[in-house]
Amino acid sequence: MPENFKTIDFKNDELILINQTKLPLVEEYIVTDIPERIAQAIENLEVRGAPAIGITAAYAITLCFKNFKGDREEHFNNCYKLLAATRPTAVNLFWALDEMKKVFLENKTSPDLYPRLSERAKEIHEEDIRMCDAIANNGLGIFTSEMTVLTHCNTGKLATGGGGTALNVIKKGFDEGKVKFVYVDETRPLLQGSRLTAFELDKYGIPFAIITDSAAGMLMCQGKIDLAITGADRIAVNGDSANKIGTYSVAALCKFHNIPFYIAAPMSTVDSSCPTGNEIKIELRAKEEITSVKGVQITRNDYDVFSPAFDVTPSKLITGIITDKQLYRFPYDFSKPK
Ligand code: MRU
Repeated sequence: MPENFKTIDFKNDELILINQTKLPLVEEYIVTDIPERIAQAIENLEVRGAPAIGITAAYAITLCFKNFKGDREEHFNNCYKLLAATRPTAVNLFWALDEMKKVFLENKTSPDLYPRLSERAKEIHEEDIRMCDAIANNGLGIFTSEMTVLTHCNTGKLATGGGGTALNVIKKGFDEGKVKFVYVDETRPLLQGSRLTAFELDKYGIPFAIITDSAAGMLMCQGKIDLAITGADRIAVNGDSANKIGTYSVAALCKFHNIPFYIAAPMSTVDSSCPTGNEIKIELRAKEEITSVKGVQITRNDYDVFSPAFDVTPSKLITGIITDKQLYRFPYDFSKPK
């Protein structure tokens, strides 16, 4: 199957997003120039994955000024707030919004405000493509032989502007004959693994099997996993990493079974204002995402639910963090080359 889908595109002053809530059963695109609709797409996970959220928000800020006439300062602040409220954990969202803010402040009285914002959003998108390539190159050395790899959530082309983070490392490993098989955690509750990672691996022709999240321990115990790799939504200065709920369990299981556990993410995921994972705000999701699956009720709505979207893996459980700059190893110091 050709790899012919685009996650995010900006054409004719409109944003085009593949609707990730419909994949893999239906390939459908959202075409819009309405910032409120884009904010809703981020909140509903129609577009998701930390880098993809940041790029989408940058285009949304651009579109806020497509036809706007009025108080620009007030309008910018309202758009910024609308987008910043969508997903609190993915730091790339705030990074991209702040990049757009710099451009806004430099051009707020200029007739060229819209083209300047649009230029910067496209640059952020292109930078991400380059970062994904660099991550894949920097990560290739983690594979010591032809390996069977486990991954969690989706960290591929669907989660970024380019080829992905952890999934791009896996893809590169496969292309170079270093990865032979991938076990894909289904990733409860929204199934980014069984729907999105499976969709991508199928497109790339990489052999895989979907497993329930709880099957990972059994496979590790049987010696069937050589290495695990995931992405991150926010990395603290000490290397503690927030990622999709269940990542911590994978890392703890890896430690127990002596299996290397890696994180792959661009440097923009490292939050210099967060000394440790304790300061990372964890997004809580609506109870309906647990009590029903794809609109089908599976338990009662009056039962209490606790649904954190992410957990934090302590840095001591992480063998290495692969960024676009380099591969870092524990103990983490992102300011110094190693
Ligand atoms: O809730 P999601 O689907 O946006 O969560 C995504 C993840 O946890 C990814 O692993 C992370 O954003 C890294 S994507 C390159």
